[in-house]
Amino acid sequence: MSKKVLLIAGDGIGPEISVEAKRVLDIINQQFDLGIEYDEALLGGAAIDATGVPLPDETLAKAKACDAILFGAIGGPKWDNIDRDIRPEKGLLGLRSGLELFGNLRPAILYPQLADASSLKPEVVSGLDILIVRELTGGIYFGEPRGIRTLENGEREGYNTYKYNETEIRRIAKVAFEAAKKRGGKLCSVDKANVLEATVLWREIVQDMAKDYPEVELSHMYVDNAAMQLVRAPKQFDVIVTGNLFGDILSDAAAMLTGSIGMLPSASLDKNGRGMYEPCHGSAPDIAGQGKANPLAMVLSAAMMLRYSLNATAAADAIEVAVGKVLDQGYRTPDIHTEGMKLVSTSEMGDALVAALTE
Ligand code: NAI
Ligand code: MG
Repeated sequence: MSKKVLLIAGDGIGPEISVEAKRVLDIINQQFDLGIEYDEALLGGAAIDATGVPLPDETLAKAKACDAILFGAIGGPKWDNIDRDIRPEKGLLGLRSGLELFGNLRPAILYPQLADASSLKPEVVSGLDILIVRELTGGIYFGEPRGIRTLENGEREGYNTYKYNETEIRRIAKVAFEAAKKRGGKLCSVDKANVLEATVLWREIVQDMAKDYPEVELSHMYVDNAAMQLVRAPKQFDVIVTGNLFGDILSDAAAMLTGSIGMLPSASLDKNGRGMYEPCHGSAPDIAGQGKANPLAMVLSAAMMLRYSLNATAAADAIEVAVGKVLDQGYRTPDIHTEGMKLVSTSEMGDALVAALTE
């Protein structure tokens, strides 16, 4: 059965890293007989230049028609001074909401070869491999009512609403349980059920769903403790599931335990498991066009795509093993380079991956 992948290269380093991710995918596609077919679309600055808008109708239509989207990055100073409504970032937000991508998966993986890039002691983080599942389209970032109002005494008050309904909780919990099943079998649900009623319901529903996943070991943790534990002993976690606000903060903290933004992939999923896969970093205009970009975050995003949307776990494993291999061999783009290692360009890193996959 053929699978349709929409490639959106984007701006800045996006096109450079996309080329390398596609080279890797092409090999994997053949080796595992995946039947992947590609389509391409414009988004962000490139779309503004070509069509005048950051999210052309054609791009949204193609995104809705494919099985998964592999995306580079968008944005850059070239488009900084245009109207807020047609900035590149609007294109990305429009795509996320247009596709209802509520399930945000952010792994924090520390490759042992890069252990000295972390701000924590090597023994605390080496081998770290955790996944944060963040709810992305609900919670306090979207809850109504919200605003700034003037009280009777004339004082102003800012307010937002933290709420999740059962459907929203169930669908994100399902993403997390499924992910835990495919990984280490442990799920920690993070809430603030001692204070916030909305998260009392969250805890109750997640607990209730656990009976459908006997193979997953579920625990619950308050968010303040989770923040502490992430820094104290991050390897105790496998999968963490949490709401939009807590997930925003915890996933950034967890990402930085690994020290290098050029290594971090992400996924955003809809209720059918279709998703958009992209590196956590942006378009890096400061190094665009210089062959300095690390393509591994995008390559690892492609691996996530195989795992979570295309049901090709062995193919995903093969990419991740190849990444480990090129790091073992000492290949380093400038962002992860340390003394004694082989300094390579974006395309040379791609060459090394191709060699690792084919030898
Ligand atoms: P950035 O992530 O693009 O860059 C931050 C720093 O990390 C820069 O020094 C950059 O050179 C470096 N870096 C990023 N990716 C790298 C890679 N693969 N290899 C080596 N070094 C890498 O974030 P910044 O500078 O805040 O934003 C630049 C542009 O990207 C802005 O227009 C911003 O709006 C956009 N952006 C887009 C995102 C997306 O497309 N999802 C996400 C974040 C920012
Ligand atoms: Mg954030």
